[in-house]
Amino acid sequence: MLRVLCIALVLSGVVADRTKLPPTCDSVIYCHGPLLDTVQMAGLYNDSKTFVDMKIKLSPNITMEHFHEMMRRTGSQPTKADIREFVDQNFDPEGSEFEDWRPDDWKDNPAFLQRIKDPLFHQWASDLNKLWLQLGRKMKDEVKHNQDLYSIIYVENPVIVPGGRFREFYYWDSYWIIKGLLLSEMRSTARGMLSNFLDIVDRFGFIPNGGRVYYAMRSQPPLLIPMMQLIMEDFDDVGYLRQHIHTLDREFDFWMTNHTLEVEHDGHKYTLARYNDMSQGPRPESYKEDIDCAKHFDTRDKKEELYAELKAAAESGWDFSSRWFILNGTNKGNLTNLKTRSIVPVDLNAIMCGNAQIMSEYHARLNNAEKAAYYRDVHARLMEAIDKVLWHEDVGAWLDYSLESGRRRDYFYPSNLSPLWTKCYDMGRKEYYVNRVVNYLDKVKLDVYEGGIPSTYEHTGEQWDYPNAWPPMQYIVIMGLANTGVPEAMRFANEMATKWVRSNFEVWKDKTAMLEKYDATIFGGLGGGGEYVVQTGFGWSNGVIMAFLNKYGDEMCAADAFGAAESGAVVGAAVGAGGVATALLAVLASVAAGTLGLMMYKKRREYTALHSGEDLKLLSRKPYTELRSLNGASAQRLR
Ligand SMILES: *[C@@H]1O[C@H](CO)[C@@H](O)[C@H](O)[C@H]1NC(C)=O
Ligand SMILES: *[C@@H]1O[C@H](CO)[C@@H](O)[C@H](O)[C@H]1NC(C)=O
Ligand SMILES: *[C@@H]1O[C@H](CO)[C@@H](O)[C@H](O)[C@H]1NC(C)=O
Ligand SMILES: *[C@@H]1O[C@H](CO)[C@@H](O)[C@H](O)[C@H]1NC(C)=O
Ligand SMILES: *[C@@H]1O[C@H](CO)[C@@H](O)[C@H](O)[C@H]1NC(C)=O
Repeated sequence: MLRVLCIALVLSGVVADRTKLPPTCDSVIYCHGPLLDTVQMAGLYNDSKTFVDMKIKLSPNITMEHFHEMMRRTGSQPTKADIREFVDQNFDPEGSEFEDWRPDDWKDNPAFLQRIKDPLFHQWASDLNKLWLQLGRKMKDEVKHNQDLYSIIYVENPVIVPGGRFREFYYWDSYWIIKGLLLSEMRSTARGMLSNFLDIVDRFGFIPNGGRVYYAMRSQPPLLIPMMQLIMEDFDDVGYLRQHIHTLDREFDFWMTNHTLEVEHDGHKYTLARYNDMSQGPRPESYKEDIDCAKHFDTRDKKEELYAELKAAAESGWDFSSRWFILNGTNKGNLTNLKTRSIVPVDLNAIMCGNAQIMSEYHARLNNAEKAAYYRDVHARLMEAIDKVLWHEDVGAWLDYSLESGRRRDYFYPSNLSPLWTKCYDMGRKEYYVNRVVNYLDKVKLDVYEGGIPSTYEHTGEQWDYPNAWPPMQYIVIMGLANTGVPEAMRFANEMATKWVRSNFEVWKDKTAMLEKYDATIFGGLGGGGEYVVQTGFGWSNGVIMAFLNKYGDEMCAADAFGAAESGAVVGAAVGAGGVATALLAVLASVAAGTLGLMMYKKRREYTALHSGEDLKLLSRKPYTELRSLNGASAQRLR
């Protein structure tokens, strides 16, 4: 095929002087200024987020006066002990904005439990249902009347939080939390969370990453409209929809206005979205980490560019990941190579495309013909852009697109499958697309992972990289495949859901805890890496397991009759600087059970290859060479 030069036109987000941009918020306590700088750089706490979550005892002005006094007294050279004393005297501990709250719509035996046949899973789901009681947070009334003493963003209704250090609402997490709450029949809690978000859009014009003022200049993957869809599917309330449709319009507009750009590809112009940031300075909640990372750069401008890339990556929800690194056209490097704003992500565009579809249906229902037509048009354009710019015909998958090189980035990410989830591909050729994608999953050897689908195949130590597996990505891939109705895809989905549920359960049995992330390479393995220790709780993890048990619970068992859960193949993989060294360890608990498990495993692979289309070469391809070529320093296939 003729190769046409691709040019990416970055029409927005290029700011000559980032120092003219506003700070992440106005607060001189929580977002910018000498107090924040002095306290955060002192590193008083293991987690930088601790300080910015503390309440000030007196007004911001008096607190600033006390700060300046302390600085005068110490000749602007305070010791760590001076700073600690200042903080202890002027701040209350983190978490002081909440009061005890027990959701009054909680019930101990929601109907979905009846669908779960396996007694162990049934008990587990019942325990997960009880976890909502621990994750509920209600703000004290005092917060509403003294907003400037807190970094928390006041909301009227109590919320279910993710857990651990995430002690406020988070935007995209809430989609899976609401999914789980609806299965638990906690309708008013779920509706309350959605109403909070709608209220926040009315106040801020969009939804911040999380419920803190220091998140107020960036968002997260736009799942507000899908949250409304969950609520409407549960209880079809047209009045509620009519009341809030314009707030949904407003949030959609925010993404169209602040996040899209024009991409010229093969001589055509397309409008696509990417994550962005239009504020100055480091992230207040990871202040020291960002300043330290920026030491790599010598000018203020370059430092500000790095902060923007860090904040845009945080907006993507994937903070941090080699998915956003560009080094010599590859995904190698480290955080200093972040180029988040120069990458057009598959998932963001798929979500926006799906949102346009939902909005056109809602407006049609409400007899807003003009608005319905507008969204139909946006939907059609995004469908076309996703197909022309992101779909890679030879690879057989959608891929992120680099605005720097005008090329697709041929790396496996679960997000590559998100158009299946939002149905943003030509449904008239469904069989074709779905079979290509199933073939792609086979090619990247996804089925060797016993602990879930890894975020990437790069081992960088960042938390959205190998070997970590994240609940929302399992959900997007598995539901995307399952909803196609194509048998091979449904089988893949069922298998991956079974692995995920069993591996989470293995951790639960051991620790009686749900984690925010897991290890894809180890059955029952814990996630790690990144800026903070692994958190427990955990909102979206619970929601995803409940959704899978609801969907598959009538047949899914904690252990196979032939023992695959306990004695199947365990994959350990280590990726060094030089590439990939992957070892397959077949652990056979018993000869009979193990052999049978291995036979099942082989049979499926052959079945996949023979039935998923043209690529019969798959049968003879050696495992892991493909992985290597995906990871090898110079082996990126750019097209
Ligand atoms: C902070 O980290 C250190 C070293 O990892 C650990 O010993 C200490 O207990 C931690 N402190 C808190 C308050 O978590
Ligand atoms: C706080 O200080 C700022 C600047 O010094 C001043 O403009 C503002 O009026 C003060 N606010 C209060 C409530 O005293
Ligand atoms: C969104 O764009 C508008 C218009 O350019 C700008 O005023 C606003 O600050 C942007 N919002 C964010 C959160 O970047
Ligand atoms: C990037 O490319 C340049 C020029 O080809 C080369 O000098 C440099 O070593 C490369 N860097 C890495 C990390 O591969
Ligand atoms: C990131 O990589 C650069 C080389 O490209 C190196 O100089 C720097 O020290 C690395 N930073 C970290 C935090 O590893």
